[in-house]
Amino acid sequence: MTARILRGRTLSFTSRPQARDDHASYVFEQDGALLIENGQISAAGRYADIVAMAAGDIEIIDHRPHLLMAGFIDPHLHFPQMQVTASYAANLLEWLNTYTFVEEQRFASAEHSARFATLFFDELLRHGTTTAAAYCSVHKGSADAYFAEAERRNLLMIGGKVMMDRNAPAALTDTAQSSYDDTKAVIERWQGTGRNHVAITPRFAITSTPAQLDAAGTLAREHPDLLIQTHLSENDAEIALTRELYPDARDYTDVYARYGLLTNRMLLGHAIHLSDREMAAIAEAGSVAVHCPTSNLFLGSGLFDLKRLKAHGVRTAVATDIGGGTSYSLLKTLDEAYKIQQMRGNRVPPIESFWQATRGNAEALGLADRIGTLETGSDADIIVLDAAATPAMQIRMETVGTLEEELFLLQTLGDDRAIAAVYVAGEAICLTESGTVTISS
Ligand code: GUN
Ligand code: ZN
Repeated sequence: MTARILRGRTLSFTSRPQARDDHASYVFEQDGALLIENGQISAAGRYADIVAMAAGDIEIIDHRPHLLMAGFIDPHLHFPQMQVTASYAANLLEWLNTYTFVEEQRFASAEHSARFATLFFDELLRHGTTTAAAYCSVHKGSADAYFAEAERRNLLMIGGKVMMDRNAPAALTDTAQSSYDDTKAVIERWQGTGRNHVAITPRFAITSTPAQLDAAGTLAREHPDLLIQTHLSENDAEIALTRELYPDARDYTDVYARYGLLTNRMLLGHAIHLSDREMAAIAEAGSVAVHCPTSNLFLGSGLFDLKRLKAHGVRTAVATDIGGGTSYSLLKTLDEAYKIQQMRGNRVPPIESFWQATRGNAEALGLADRIGTLETGSDADIIVLDAAATPAMQIRMETVGTLEEELFLLQTLGDDRAIAAVYVAGEAICLTESGTVTISS
């Protein structure tokens, strides 16, 4: 395989920025380069140094003046909800019952699942997202379609067959036993094939009986390396119903803890309305609170309390939550996350936002040794960001003088149009105008 050098302005994070001027938290090269061999970054640094060290047959791709960063990571979204996005509802439970639980039934069809797996990864890649943790539907076949397509494209994707055995239409429910068996089969078939990672996926407490959460806990014990994903404390009515369904639990968080699910592999979508006790328990367990800003605003769910979560030492992540969320773009998601923190009197520095969408989300998934940075040895999942991609961005760029200003502009005005190129395991992905993504070789 030919080695390849990508030249551009490279930005990669080494740790969570502690302040706006925490320059020690990242490495930035104005004339930087990445040497890519066998799908991985084999060297990163100044262009002059990289080109001097490279030997043999090398292709050089010059992306200047654009920024090269690790591909974005979306740690919470729903594969079967592409046609649910933008559905008019008063709140979470109405939205689930009226649209989501209807739409997801269509993924009983293998053909439908295969079609949407193609569309789903096309859309993620167009938006610069190279890794995601997605909920599939209750149907095992939806997970098969998801992982088959991810493997075909050599993408590092996380996914799980949703476990749900009550409070949903009969066509969308499994049983405690069948959800255990099907998840087990998905793990045996897909875990470790290509770059696939399977997640244990009990949807949320309302749609699982105690027996099913127990089965999920058993799976978590049997497969301690696997991620677990669920929803927590998104909406007041959801919390009230959960308390009715699990009267013995101290609170919503304790429901998951009781079944052995509150671990350092657990991704807790939303995690909005939490007591100090719950935050302390989540921090102690090392679970991750996943901020889903566009969804939380769209469904009127509430404002993520980043400052309090951080004060408790809770690990965090940021995600789109398509189809409750309204954009596939991590740039737009960072923008909305920023605005929510503004409403809470908590101004988040642009470097912290971009850390979160790359290395921070990789750490949340336990994958920072593979993705989320441009460090030597990482998988070469790379995006090229153009901060002057639209007329409005171009005009504003005329007055931008610092990296911080450029990142803030990308976050505030950017979307899929700012993604100039995408590399998956070192291979360029063609982003065509029709929106279809083809893999070039
Ligand atoms: N809670 C349980 N299921 C879902 C879902 O599909 N989306 C959101 N936003 N919340 C949920
Ligand atoms: Zn969700």
